[in-house]
Amino acid sequence: MYNEIDLDIIDINSEPPTEEPFRQYYFMAKCRKWVKDFEQKNERLPKACVVNMGCQMNARDSEKLAGILENIGYERTDCEEADFVIYNTCTVRENANNKVYGRLGYLHAYKKKHPQMKIALCGCMMQEAHVVERLKSSYRFVDLIFGTHNLFKFPELLASMLERSEMTIEIWQDTDKIVEELPIDRKYPFKSGVNIMFGCNNFCSYCIVPYVRGRERSRRPQEILREIERMADDGVVEVMLLGQNVNSYGKTFDEPFPFARLLQEIEQIDKIQRIRFMTSHPKDLSLDLIEVMAASNKICHHLHLPLQSGSTRILEQMNRRYTKEQYLALAGRLREAMPDLALTTDIIVGFPGETEADFADTLDVVRQVEYDSAFTFLYSKRTGTPAALMENQVPEDIVKRRFDQLLQEVQHIAAAKAERLTGQVRPILVEEVNAQDASLVTGRLENNSIVHIPGDASMIGTLVDVTLEECRGFYYYGRAIAAS
Ligand code: 5AD
Ligand code: SF4
Repeated sequence: MYNEIDLDIIDINSEPPTEEPFRQYYFMAKCRKWVKDFEQKNERLPKACVVNMGCQMNARDSEKLAGILENIGYERTDCEEADFVIYNTCTVRENANNKVYGRLGYLHAYKKKHPQMKIALCGCMMQEAHVVERLKSSYRFVDLIFGTHNLFKFPELLASMLERSEMTIEIWQDTDKIVEELPIDRKYPFKSGVNIMFGCNNFCSYCIVPYVRGRERSRRPQEILREIERMADDGVVEVMLLGQNVNSYGKTFDEPFPFARLLQEIEQIDKIQRIRFMTSHPKDLSLDLIEVMAASNKICHHLHLPLQSGSTRILEQMNRRYTKEQYLALAGRLREAMPDLALTTDIIVGFPGETEADFADTLDVVRQVEYDSAFTFLYSKRTGTPAALMENQVPEDIVKRRFDQLLQEVQHIAAAKAERLTGQVRPILVEEVNAQDASLVTGRLENNSIVHIPGDASMIGTLVDVTLEECRGFYYYGRAIAAS
């Protein structure tokens, strides 16, 4: 674990400190006492299951929750039949919400048979007032509910949950606080996400994120660099810088600190060999960034650049602040500076008012840019966003037809692009021994594609140059060049 706190030296009989993060360390020590009592009574440790339901930012938050639970003494499990289950929820699309209500039904059945079980919910969905109302009235068996802004208070909320039998609910509307130095349990020892900013100020008209994640806040560069240096000393060779809109990093400081400069500083950290970042907003992507990326041999030549729609008219309705032509020009500039760049994207189909001509523009951009892969989404109406009030919602059958057509196009192009890499020599970061065939190890290319090569566990966490011998759609078989 990273940032592990020595809880045994904390006096839990004194008053809790007011200063963060020391206040949370105090409550972690209190929970630790509870865990020890549980262990004595039951002759086993309590088991905790953290379920991540959202994006990479959520995944990073889940690592924080898991780190705290582990530091307290819980045993980690992936099975939801546990003593403590926490869902870190997402609300970007409506079906994410429906999934949570469905899964809670199953948990309730288990809890009826195991009444000492505790259930917690956190994350983006909890920032919606109507959700919390529904949970309060129809899901009384949930023990703890908190949101995105007070995640750092998890130990304090957990302590309160363990002490009481009523539902503990604490949701903040916003925050300007960034609390550093809480324990984190990384999923992989050799790669890690790093938050560089929180929140979003863009207010794309379909998107609920600015309402549930609050205003944009950047972490201080010194804090980010210190965290990455410590990770590097701890064996991390690849970092993924995370933010809703990394291109506007540092703009809110008194003395602005551009994202391109942050990348340059991270590159100086010797042991870090690969740097990734997401997500980029096309309107804020600077020429400096393109230059820094092109010149670097550590920054992956991979950019996730959400298009959302190829129609200038729809983009305007979406409040994206770029046109089809500007997007295409940017993609062209990027490809010119980095011919080996992998471009990936997000596209929404069926935004209110989308006509066949608008959809044709989206297909046109997809064909011109030739994305290496694309996440395609059916437009989902999110209560509270401006688009939810737009009258000309597109009928479901039309949206579905366009979606299928887009998906087919995207997959066709992606497969052709993947095939083109066959025969080339590219570096992969080896991540694990292949689960099906122990004579192989599996790694990832700069563009995140998977490659299987002959090898063994000693290669895990190292960068290896491989020849891509055979493309199987979206993954490859290859061979380390040194070994051939
Ligand atoms: N409906 C469908 N897709 C959405 N996204 C965000 N909001 C919505 C919505 N209301 C998609 C966008 C974004 C990705 C994370 O989720 O494409 O880039
Ligand atoms: Fe949502 Fe737009 Fe912010 Fe992305 S940039 S999180 S799509 S509001």
